[in-house]
Amino acid sequence: MMYDRAFFDQGIERRNTACEKWDDRNVMGEDGIPLWVADMDFRCAEPIVDALKKRAEHACYGYPICGDEDREAFIHFTKRRHGISLQSEDIAFLPCVVTGMKVFIRAFSKPGDRIAILTPVYGPFTSSIECNQRIAERIALTIGTDGRYQIDFDALEEAFRQGVRHLMLCSPHNPVSRVWTKEELERLLALCRQYGVFLSVDEIHAEFVYEPQSFTSILSLAKPEDAVVCFMSASKTFNIAGLQQAMMISYRHDLLKAMQQELIAGGGVWGNTFALAGTRAAYELCDDWLDGLMAYLQSNLEVMKREIARQLPLARIIPVEATYLAWLDLREYHLSCAEIAQRCMRTGVALTGGTFFGPEGEGFMRLNFGCPERQLIRGIERLAAALQ
Ligand SMILES: Cc1ncc(COP(=O)(O)O)c(C=O)c1O
Repeated sequence: MMYDRAFFDQGIERRNTACEKWDDRNVMGEDGIPLWVADMDFRCAEPIVDALKKRAEHACYGYPICGDEDREAFIHFTKRRHGISLQSEDIAFLPCVVTGMKVFIRAFSKPGDRIAILTPVYGPFTSSIECNQRIAERIALTIGTDGRYQIDFDALEEAFRQGVRHLMLCSPHNPVSRVWTKEELERLLALCRQYGVFLSVDEIHAEFVYEPQSFTSILSLAKPEDAVVCFMSASKTFNIAGLQQAMMISYRHDLLKAMQQELIAGGGVWGNTFALAGTRAAYELCDDWLDGLMAYLQSNLEVMKREIARQLPLARIIPVEATYLAWLDLREYHLSCAEIAQRCMRTGVALTGGTFFGPEGEGFMRLNFGCPERQLIRGIERLAAALQ
């Protein structure tokens, strides 16, 4: 199979497949174009489909084990793609990354504790904190003169000084699309060490980084004694979020154990027969699909910039360093996210409202460009019609 432009151009029909992005009628009508939920409208790599079919054909679906080969597949992938050397004992399995965030919160903090997040940030960071009766300490990112978001290190240190002992970082950052540099991560780590802060780092978007940026994993900087937990998953990378599997990684095996105990106490399980088969195939056999995808996304990024400049002259795209999610500053249109969403519903396109990521997102919308080019162009036309 050639994972070339033609492969990604063909997309895949997803309507009426119980698919959140296409089939949620509260968000858009039947003929709507979804540029919202963070999955992609492309066919999966052939080895994943084959592995799932093969597993399905073995007509017995009893309890599986997460075996050495599942860990090995992940270890080899992180070594190959990021040069990180992990040991089997550094890794534990989870149903998904958001479960991991909740387990991190529950294992290392207590109700009423304040947990720092850098906002605007992926909504479940806040909801995971609040549904566990902790308090989200929102440290707002600032926008620099170059239009890129920056960490307010002074505000963060002040929060630590005031007793905050947990930080949940998104790296690369959804929705503002920053790839945190080695220097920024080193500075964060140093602060966490100084104040005894537990750090969780969500690296689910690690593969979607555009040149000239390069990704630095927290795992390449953390020391064995650091209270650092990292979450990774094949779900975004290979478009298999519906399979539900993720990994938590830490050099502190006592932390991993505490999180596993918390997961078990809450009734959580890991090891879904199909997730294991699909994820192993993804990590072992699908680098060519991923490389083809990145070339396609890079091209879509240019198309999006061109079309937005042409059709939405008042919009500003926050520089896209990573992810397939663009953060659009629409504040010059003087409409709330709710108003923009209503107008988009009428013109037949769906984006994610900026306020899903926190109050700092008012007037912004997040656009998912992980789709065939023609769909992206049509969606932008409809967004422009909505804002007229
Ligand atoms: C930053 C980030 N973390 C986690 C998730 C969800 O991951 P999972 O489905 O593994 O819970 C998403 C999905 O959009 C995301 O953008």
